[in-house]
Amino acid sequence: MSYQTIEVRPLTPTLGAEVSGVDLSAPLSDQQFQEIHDGLMAHQVIFFRDQDITLEQHKDFGRRFGPLHIHPSAPGPAGHPEILRIHADENSKQVAGHRWHSDVSCDPEPPMGSILHIHTVPSIGGDTLFASSNAAYEALSAPMKKFLGDLSARHDGGPNYNRRAQINGKPGDKQYPYADHPVIRTHPVTGKKGIYVSPVFTQYICDLPEDESRSILDFLYAHNRKEQFVCRFTWKKDSIAFWDNRAVQHLAMWDYFPRVRSGYRVTVAGDKPF
Ligand code: SIN
Repeated sequence: MSYQTIEVRPLTPTLGAEVSGVDLSAPLSDQQFQEIHDGLMAHQVIFFRDQDITLEQHKDFGRRFGPLHIHPSAPGPAGHPEILRIHADENSKQVAGHRWHSDVSCDPEPPMGSILHIHTVPSIGGDTLFASSNAAYEALSAPMKKFLGDLSARHDGGPNYNRRAQINGKPGDKQYPYADHPVIRTHPVTGKKGIYVSPVFTQYICDLPEDESRSILDFLYAHNRKEQFVCRFTWKKDSIAFWDNRAVQHLAMWDYFPRVRSGYRVTVAGDKPF
């Protein structure tokens, strides 16, 4: 793919690319938007450096890709319901996203993409890992692809969000969205198929007995996170990661306690998986 307005440097042959030559605090031209979108489709997760953006500029960038999603469990800062604060320090009992997941896959129409700006980085640690669900699907055998192709799985936000609330001393008894999604989803833009189950939200595979469901899910989780499908991003101050939730899963490494890591995420709404 050739780009006129940005430079795109792949990080691995499978996924991840660093994008330079664009200032995300300024409105994007149509060509810049199209090329960033093309880069995201080609590499599934893209990274920007040295982007000192405000919350408004962050939201404006996200809105170029679609309406913004409002998180079901974490209210944004005052006046910014579309912003999810990502923060950990010496008082934290947990962090967001430290197990593999695709964001808010419990929603009937889960987010298309997430744009995370980290403005405060720990002196060491705090990387984010991304795993290509498209590449992991492609590597499955033909009989396994056929078997999985007919299945759907229950995703539920309750167990995750309520457990997180309880860890923070809150009751943890709220209702959260749930939905059944295909175990293998088709990307609406690239047409690629990808594994769409992950440990944070998936509860079981529908229509299978519990032991079969557990074994298949454990196999898929272990398969999707194999080294050859994973890239790892080390943050610097004012880095931005933009990932496609329809193509990758991710995990935020919490290896930096009691250091501070802080930023904001804007999440772009998506469609019903098929
Ligand atoms: C998340 O959005 O799941 C958190 C990712 C991170 O903090 O790196």
